Amino acid sequence: MNPAYKKLMKCYDCFQKKINFKPRAALVLGSGLGDYAETIQIADTLDYKEIEGFPVSTIPGHRGRFVFGYVGEVPVVIMQGRVHYYEGYSIEDVVLPVRLMKLMGAEILFLTNAAGGVNTEFQAGDFMMITDHISNFVPSPLIGESIPELGERFSDMSQVYDRELQEIIERTAAEQKIPLQKGVYIQLTGPNFETPHEVKMCRILGADAVGMSTACEAMAANHMGMKICGISCITNLGCGMTDQPLSHLEVQEIADKAAPMFKKLITESILA
Ligand code: 6GU
Repeated sequence: MNPAYKKLMKCYDCFQKKINFKPRAALVLGSGLGDYAETIQIADTLDYKEIEGFPVSTIPGHRGRFVFGYVGEVPVVIMQGRVHYYEGYSIEDVVLPVRLMKLMGAEILFLTNAAGGVNTEFQAGDFMMITDHISNFVPSPLIGESIPELGERFSDMSQVYDRELQEIIERTAAEQKIPLQKGVYIQLTGPNFETPHEVKMCRILGADAVGMSTACEAMAANHMGMKICGISCITNLGCGMTDQPLSHLEVQEIADKAAPMFKKLITESILA
């Protein structure tokens, strides 16, 4: 068996032995947004370190566990913290959790992140619904021996972010009077932030926001046939767009401030 698939199935076995829960929706919470998991009706939790072979993140602001529970009547699994490519994991390991949540039964995937604004119209604290992404600065998680159990060799990427979910999110934002930008997310490797010219490059390529996650996860989930939506919290503008240097602390502070609105947007979109 393909080693990546073998590892995934081992994690799935481990999950099945410990947890009896079938989520409909899966949520990945980005930097500073992890507290959302504590606000739902929790049925069970599973620390990543309890799952043999599962990649565990160590950076501040990422808690490292699955939370199983209900948003209204909807059974959800939430990843409280994700792992990033810049932590040194292979891109296959980075997307393993998303693949695992699909195996658990989740058909819908909400991806969230903290991102830098590249679009000059954006402001710190804005939300941006992801309409498409640029992923080519990180390796594709689909590289390697084809795993037919997961999806096709040549994965169509024409509509990664589900149109219907986008409509729901837009409608929810309008109803809840939450200002919402729309745009293209570009994933770079990190962990460094960009230079001013790299931010300019992102803009020339057509990106509106820049970050260090999400696109690879969306790719793996799209490959497996999940319905995907993505929301970025624009915690700051890209380097060179203001005279401020960037810090992870600032990213977390703004994400914390945005958390209540974010909670509303996610909750109402799941219920819609
Ligand atoms: Cl400016 N860049 C990247 N790559 N990730 C970020 C960010 C910037 N701000 C928050 N996350």
